[in-house]
Amino acid sequence: MRIAIDGPAGAGKSTVARILAKKLGFTYLDTGAMYRAVTVLFLENNLSLEDENGIKRLLEKTDIKIIPGDEGQKILLNERDVTELIRTPQVSELVAKVSALPEVREYLTELQRKIIAKGDVVADGRDIGTVVMPEAEVKIFLTASAEERARRRHRELLAKGYEVSYEEVFREVLKRDELDTTREISPLRKAEDAILVDTTGLKIEEVVAKLLEIIGRKQ
Ligand code: DC
Repeated sequence: MRIAIDGPAGAGKSTVARILAKKLGFTYLDTGAMYRAVTVLFLENNLSLEDENGIKRLLEKTDIKIIPGDEGQKILLNERDVTELIRTPQVSELVAKVSALPEVREYLTELQRKIIAKGDVVADGRDIGTVVMPEAEVKIFLTASAEERARRRHRELLAKGYEVSYEEVFREVLKRDELDTTREISPLRKAEDAILVDTTGLKIEEVVAKLLEIIGRKQ
């Protein structure tokens, strides 16, 4: 079975998708982490967003792997563990621009489809139900108010030791929403056959229960 979970940043997609995959014994595919890994590549190689050939050449020799584990998944970029690095504010700031590039989307969509073809999967991202696996049996569009999403991200960042203000995070959330929904290729949008789930005010367990019920109905 293929389960697609799309939605804006901070809606709780990755937390919920990870728990669901574990409960169901499915592979969890965090596509946002893959876009973040490519962003690390851009930063480390000083690659310009306009350098189409340079981007293609670099992607051709790039390998991204997701290794599942009890403590969550590990992201390997050319065999190097970048799990922590992909969550830095520097990466968060640039990733929306990198993920708007056609070369990058083509490369990652193909990689994601290869992983999906291997078996049961819960995949989360922005274009999973619309582009990556439009044939998924279950499609969820997970959302929450911008304020709540900013509060969640802010809490996460503080817990990791970053000194950022709520206002800063709120502005970043709005900016990312804008970029994700207005970009030309694969913009964030709800697939027609996706079920909308608003997580504002809900606890993670409540969201998981809701999704399990939706999945149960499809089985
Ligand atoms: O979910 P996240 O914050 O880790 O995603 C990081 C960025 O990657 C976000 O700006 C949107 C982009 N992304 C995308 O364009 N398509 C996906 N399938 C997943 C993420």
